[in-house]
Amino acid sequence: MSSPLKIWHPFTNSAVDPAPIEIERAEGVWLYAKDGRKIIDAVSSWWVNIHGHANRRIAAAIAEQARKMEHVILAGFTHEPAEELAARLRKWVAPELAHLFFSDDGSTAVEVALKLAVQHFSNSGRAEKSEIVALEHGYHGDTAGAMSVSDDSPFTDPFRTMRYPVRRVHSAYCYRCPVGLRRETCHIECLGQLETLLEEHGKKIAAVIVEPLLQAAGGMIVHPVEFLQKVRALCTKHGVLLIADEVLTGFGRTGKMFACDLAGIAPDLMCLSKGVTGGFLPMGVTLCSDRVEAAFRSKNRLHTFYHGHSYTGNALACAAANASLQIFDEEPVFERIAKIAEINSERLAQMKKYPQVGDLRQIGTIGAIELRTDDAGYLSAMRAKLYQFFLERGVLLRPLGNVVYVLPPYVISPEELHRVYDVIVEAIETVF
Ligand SMILES: Cc1ncc(COP(=O)(O)O)c(C=O)c1O
Repeated sequence: MSSPLKIWHPFTNSAVDPAPIEIERAEGVWLYAKDGRKIIDAVSSWWVNIHGHANRRIAAAIAEQARKMEHVILAGFTHEPAEELAARLRKWVAPELAHLFFSDDGSTAVEVALKLAVQHFSNSGRAEKSEIVALEHGYHGDTAGAMSVSDDSPFTDPFRTMRYPVRRVHSAYCYRCPVGLRRETCHIECLGQLETLLEEHGKKIAAVIVEPLLQAAGGMIVHPVEFLQKVRALCTKHGVLLIADEVLTGFGRTGKMFACDLAGIAPDLMCLSKGVTGGFLPMGVTLCSDRVEAAFRSKNRLHTFYHGHSYTGNALACAAANASLQIFDEEPVFERIAKIAEINSERLAQMKKYPQVGDLRQIGTIGAIELRTDDAGYLSAMRAKLYQFFLERGVLLRPLGNVVYVLPPYVISPEELHRVYDVIVEAIETVF
């Protein structure tokens, strides 16, 4: 037999990165490799897993659904798992959000939100309101539209000509304050840019997109709650839609079901993915207000949202999502989240003493340590060294350059989480 095709692994350069580790089995927070290694998945497998790997309830729900009906076209049809998910999400999302549009992953959930925002104004006879505002350090996915609203980075660099123009404004990166102030005494002056932009050009702007309270891939940057609240107020004042990309922050990551809940605000559009199916199957969900959707309800066929992916509303993914939300209803998930948050704060506080540590950030289940270096950023030389160091000690952590972060499944035990932090402390003490 000829040799098999070679798998091209994401975010991997086969000339310099180590060969992939073959995982045979996973359970809870543990990954079991073919070579006998046991690894703690401290990044929830790219931030998707929430109730642990191979969760029995979710696995059973998928199996049961697969025996009944695996998938059916969602244009012109519907099915119980999708309707159940719409009903279950109603309990958790802000009352202002009334409609739900399915897609495939985080990037497509973002693409849908951006297109809905632009077409909303086009259908309303205000086609000139078509520009998008996004934040510095933002990351919204790897498809062309999501890449456009993401900030410039090594990820987007080769695609400069493919990205559409976006108005970019300061983010509240307090450790590297864009306006040179200190959080203890500032009044969120970094928002001044957005304020001026909306005052001067609000008539041309359809939407502002943010990762609420936490810019993840940009370096686990935690924003003050007031920043998000003020962005909401400015959008309302200038008739601009607010898109909350909760692809990572959704489903308990920040301590509340959604990051917007922590700030007590409701966006006009919200993007969900990652944790929605408990980390079992891909799914994107974009929610929007009735006001946004109303512009599409029209006798004019051209006002239709002509967008849909083959696997939209996949019944197996819906069954997984319903089982995951049932776990939220029936198990002490928020107690697990609170325990992780408590350990995160305790362990991060102990790291203040290290001169190698530049900044410590935390929001709910996520703890981040920004290490001092001359080559800060995703391509920092520290990254590869640290990644290997952690793996050799049985912990999967994927530093974002010089930012080491912990983002575990909620079923991690205190002992397991302490082990993760012990390894990070060992790295700080011995590698640098
Ligand atoms: C905030 C945010 N939005 C969108 C995405 C893209 O999601 P996906 O990788 O599922 O396309 C990510 C992925 O990390 C993300 O963190």
